[in-house]
This record gives sequence, C-alpha cells and structure tokens, in this order.
Amino acid sequence: MSMIVVTVVGARPQFVKAAVVSRALRATATVSEILVHTGQHYDPGMSDVFFSQLGIAPPAYNLEIGSLSHGAQTGRMLERIEGILQETTPDWVVVYGDTNSTLAGALAAAKLHVPVAHVEAGLRSFNRAMPEEVNRVLTDHLSTVLFTPTEAAVNNLGAEGIPRERVTEVGDVMYDAALYYSAQALDMPSPVAPFGVAAGEYVLATVHRAENTDVPARLTTIAGALRRLAAQRPVVVPLHPRTVSALERGGLLEGLKTDCVIMEPVSYLAMVRLEKEAAVIVTDSGGVQKEAFFHGVPCVTLRDETEWVELLECGANRLAPPRDEATILDGVRQALEDGSPKVREELYGGGKAAVRIANRLAAGL
Ligand code: UD1
Ligand code: UDP
Repeated sequence: MSMIVVTVVGARPQFVKAAVVSRALRATATVSEILVHTGQHYDPGMSDVFFSQLGIAPPAYNLEIGSLSHGAQTGRMLERIEGILQETTPDWVVVYGDTNSTLAGALAAAKLHVPVAHVEAGLRSFNRAMPEEVNRVLTDHLSTVLFTPTEAAVNNLGAEGIPRERVTEVGDVMYDAALYYSAQALDMPSPVAPFGVAAGEYVLATVHRAENTDVPARLTTIAGALRRLAAQRPVVVPLHPRTVSALERGGLLEGLKTDCVIMEPVSYLAMVRLEKEAAVIVTDSGGVQKEAFFHGVPCVTLRDETEWVELLECGANRLAPPRDEATILDGVRQALEDGSPKVREELYGGGKAAVRIANRLAAGL
C-alpha cells in the first residue's frame, strides 16, 4: 500500500529533524513525501544551508510567510496549508516540535480530517507564557499519532488524558541526527580556528528564546554574564537574528562583540563541530541542550525550567535562570567541575527514532 505524507517544516530545528525522518521515509519505498516549507525561517543561514548540507529535497511548496506576529504568521500558514492539503489529499500530515509552523500544519490537517503525526510529542515546560508550550499542547491534542522522544513525554500525555494507544515512544530524532552527522562534522574546518580559539577551551553559547530576548533585564544579565565569562576563557556565540535585533535595541551588541567571538548563525555541521569541541555549552535552545549531552559536553540552560528533565536528573544539564549574572557564572563553574556527562543512549531511543516513525507511517492508520 503506498502512502502520501505531507511534511510541514519552517524553522531551523525542524530541518534537522525532517532530514533524518525523510531519509527513513525514502527507505520504506512505499511512502512518498511532499515537503512544505512555511518560510518561517528564510535567511539563507537559517534555512537553505540546512537543505543543501543535510541532503533534504527542495520543498515542493515554499509558502514564504516570513516574520509576522504570532496570530498573523500562524493564520497565513493555516490558510495556505489547507489549500495544499485539499490539492494533495495525503494519508498523513507530519509536524515537528512546537513552532508556529507545527501548530498551523496540525490545525489545517485536523480540520480536514487528515491524520496528524506529531514528532517530538508530549514535551511540557508547564509554562503557558511560552509560545512553544501553547503550540505543543494544542498540536498534541490535535494529533492522531504522537511520537514521543522520552519517557517523561509519555507520562505528560497520559496525565492530559491522551489515549495511550495513540502514543508511540520512538526516541529523539535529534539523537539519530547527532549519530548520523558526527563524523561529517569532524571533517569540517574548525569554525573557531580563524579566531585563534582552540578546541576544548571555549564556552559555546546560544540565546534565542522569547523569554530571554524580549525581556530587557534578562538579556542584559545574559550579555553581562557572557562578557564576564570571556575574561576567563573564549566565549563563542553564533547569534540568532532575533537576538541580534534585541541586543541592538538594548545597546548590548557592541560590548558583546568586544569581548566574545560573535558569529552569524552557523550550519548544522559547523554547529555540531562547535558543540563537540566546547568545554561547556550555555544555551536556552531545546535542541542544543540535548546535543551537548549527545556529544558529551556539560551544559548550563538559561531558563527557569526545561522540557528535557532527564538531563537535569542525570546531572548532564543544570538550570541557571538568567535573573542575575552570578547564577549563570555559578552554573558554568559547576558544569566545568562536573565535566563530561556519560552518554546514556537508552534515554533517547538509541538512534532508531526515525526508522520507527517511518515504519509506523508506512503501516497506515
Ligand atoms: C522560532 C520558534 C522557536 C524555535 C526557534 C528555532 C515559534 C513561536 N518559535 O523562534 O520555538 O526555538 O524558531 O530557531 O515558532 N528572523 C530573521 N531571519 C529568519 C528568521 C527569523 O531575521 O530567517 C528574525 C525576525 O526578526 C523574526 C525573529 O527572528 O521576527 C523571530 O523569528 P520567529 O520565527 O518568529 O521566531 P524564532 O525566535 O526564530
Ligand atoms: N543550530 C545550527 N546553527 C546555529 C545554532 C543552532 O545549526 O547557529 C542547530 C542546533 O545544532 C540544533 C538546532 O539548530 O540542531 C537547534 O535550533 P534552535 O536552537 O534554533 O531551536 P530549538 O531547538 O530551541 O527549538
């Protein structure tokens, strides 16, 4: 039986996730995938580079929605995706994670009674002020099949009354990606060598979450802490465009550039290389928190809570809510003291998540 899957992606982490699942779908030989790019991310360094580097087929549709307020962005996506689903009449719509593109894809499909498969289902921060939490709760409740990355995610869905038979614990597709691309990443030229920064000595930092970029006190604290860390060891920061704008607005960018190695967003393979060779990673990214663990690097998370609770429990990660600089500096000191976490591959599905997802989708409803 052959199946048509419409995959909806739009933001950087979704390209990484879709790359491994698309490859597994191709291997089934019975599934044909139609890729829809909403255009939520559109800078070449936030989008094209992932398609070319990770071998993702060019999208069949690029909606070019771009940056808008939450309602306008999600609404425009919804309308356009609805038209595509009516045209293509798929057996499944596959969505990833918790962005506005995720919710738009899931809602358009559910209203047309097209089964929705949600990859990375069941994650919760229990903080409804996060746009991602709203997106993921709604998407999970619209989904027919929920592919969870962790045991905690399975439990969260159970607590919300989602029937157990809809939930399949497959593991984390980002772990699949980490395993698949590691060797290629090490073949890359070092992105920090031109800055005279050596492997193993630097802090790698990323910041893009709305709760940090859009709250001036938190952003000022983060920038201040990174500058203080830079007095001890090099601090390397590939900056998300949202954060560049916020730092500029706050008059913080120039100071940060003086003390830290500030870069444009880097490609996935360059990022993996940066992660593998960091002494410690400081981030508010969901994906980067886990990649730190996959590559055996201690992590400090600049948030009040995290969805990836198992990494706190095993000591690979620690929270440093950016309320004052000392909390962040203490977190980094602790992380460096604790050193490299042991990779426990059973936590995230052992690298088989994408194959499990593809097989389930190929089996039909
Ligand atoms: C989005 C997701 C977030 C995810 C992140 C991954 C939502 C609500 N948020 O956040 O969950 O962690 O992607 O990176 O879906 N911009 C550019 N060029 C681009 C993309 C964005 O300049 O190619 C700038 C624009 O000023 C834009 C801002 O970044 O307004 C934010 O982009 P947006 O996609 O709305 O949210 P992210 O912060 O990227
Ligand atoms: N990433 C990248 N280049 C960068 C920063 C991040 O390729 O400059 C990758 C990172 O390795 C991970 C994904 O993008 O695979 C995470 O995306 P992001 O932090 O934007 O979003 P989140 O995971 O928080 O939703």
